[in-house]
Amino acid sequence: CRVRHYKFNVVMKNSSRLCSTKPIVTVNGRFPGPTLTAREGDTVLVKVVNHVKYNVSIHWHGIRQLRTGWADGPAYITQCPIQPGQNYIYNFTITGQRGTLLWHAHILWLRATVHGAIVILPKRGVPYPFPKPDKEAVVILAEYWKADTELVINQAQKSGLAPNVSDAHTINGKPGPVPNWKSYMLRIINAALNEELFFKIAGHKLTVVEVDATYVKPFKTDTIVIAPGQTINVLVTADKSSGKYLMAASPFMDSPIAVDNVTATATLHYSGTLSSSATTLTNPPPQNATSISDNFTNSLRSLNSKKFPAKVPLTVDHALLITVGLGINPCPSCKAGNGSRVVASMNNVTFIMPTTALLQAHYFNIKGVFTTDFPSNPPFAFNYTSTTPPKNLGTTSGTKLYRLPYNSTVQLVLQDTGIIAPENHPIHLHGFNFFAVGRGLGNFNPKKDPKKFNLVDPVERNTIGVPSGGWTAIRFRADNPGVWFMHCHLEVHTTWGLKMAFLVDNGKGPNESVLPPPSDLPKC
Ligand code: C2O
Repeated sequence: CRVRHYKFNVVMKNSSRLCSTKPIVTVNGRFPGPTLTAREGDTVLVKVVNHVKYNVSIHWHGIRQLRTGWADGPAYITQCPIQPGQNYIYNFTITGQRGTLLWHAHILWLRATVHGAIVILPKRGVPYPFPKPDKEAVVILAEYWKADTELVINQAQKSGLAPNVSDAHTINGKPGPVPNWKSYMLRIINAALNEELFFKIAGHKLTVVEVDATYVKPFKTDTIVIAPGQTINVLVTADKSSGKYLMAASPFMDSPIAVDNVTATATLHYSGTLSSSATTLTNPPPQNATSISDNFTNSLRSLNSKKFPAKVPLTVDHALLITVGLGINPCPSCKAGNGSRVVASMNNVTFIMPTTALLQAHYFNIKGVFTTDFPSNPPFAFNYTSTTPPKNLGTTSGTKLYRLPYNSTVQLVLQDTGIIAPENHPIHLHGFNFFAVGRGLGNFNPKKDPKKFNLVDPVERNTIGVPSGGWTAIRFRADNPGVWFMHCHLEVHTTWGLKMAFLVDNGKGPNESVLPPPSDLPKC
């Protein structure tokens, strides 16, 4: 194991794309930002220096941060932001993880341009549990906005209306010409703000081997489905002798709320192929191809080998049912929304961002920053997925946390609601991986559905889609003391309040409670 040092200078940089130039916030002047490479077991120190006018914080999405919650990164959750001219060293050790993850800004909408790959190689001498690819490449899918995304978020917040969609999708890290390589591993990352994406390559099957830095039972598919925050490693056999093949990323949206038809493309280009030769095209799936998405999701299983067993909690200490959805609240001052605005909530609570970081408030016992009364069940039951909305559309608001005893086992059933319209929500949990033990359409049935849970080899992830008009059930062990954010990874929904946090701390000894903060922790 070694210590890896990185320096992330957050700087403005002019970006010219889509026939216009604008300054964007970047790390080290690059979009996407630099790849952070380490091995399992390494300690990583990233010094982030803020040279821009915005407050900044960086999240290492999917890194477990065992006992290092102060390095997790979400602004006002685990740290105060790094103010202009200030810096902070994120210091964490990568324990029991290898694969692909991503890092991104975790404040406002800065992650639109402030993001990059995390590549965690297995320990030296430890092979992949699949044939070693000849070559690996990072493929970052993202969105490109001509508008300033900080203004877009501001308008969405003020008006209570949905913002526009991005102007384009981007594929960076295009794999270049293929000389003599027979096989590729693509490390695919969805860094988009607001859209789930399909990804496919003309004429080539993709063998899925890993998701969210956990190994899966390999399976072949034409198309993968990837939500913001998710990562997928696929093997591609370059079995053509020549030619150019289109790679396409296109949106998956199974609700009528937003429409976006932009498809991003890049080419897989065999060496020796004339640049003038024609490209083999591929048709992106229709935007509402729910069956393709369902097939893909249902094919995911943990590898569950001797070396990589799926440690699914078989008993549950805390069982929560959490509704996830959008709603309408009165807003007399919202001109654009005709006196009402879109809000989002979990169990009817619209989360209010605090102005002091929750982990600091917890550790230093600062009163009045949060409460620990996040409800374990919806406050009132209704037909969650009916198209006729319930009478009571309003939500309450607050900075409500749910307290979990250290090492307790937890089951969350995340139930989508159709109050405005059902929509697929990719929910991300910080600080843990979880097992996706069940999934279904309609309302979760607590009597029947748990009988069908997969407790043997469910896929292990950090971000999971709650299907539109349905539910998903996840389990994890609360073995990491800290304050851990859980939110929809569609940035617009997070902005509207689709978020909450867990507090894990027994107050008993250093293993079961939060360790002291580093001395350079930013102040609010
Ligand atoms: Cu990738 Cu809290 O986010």
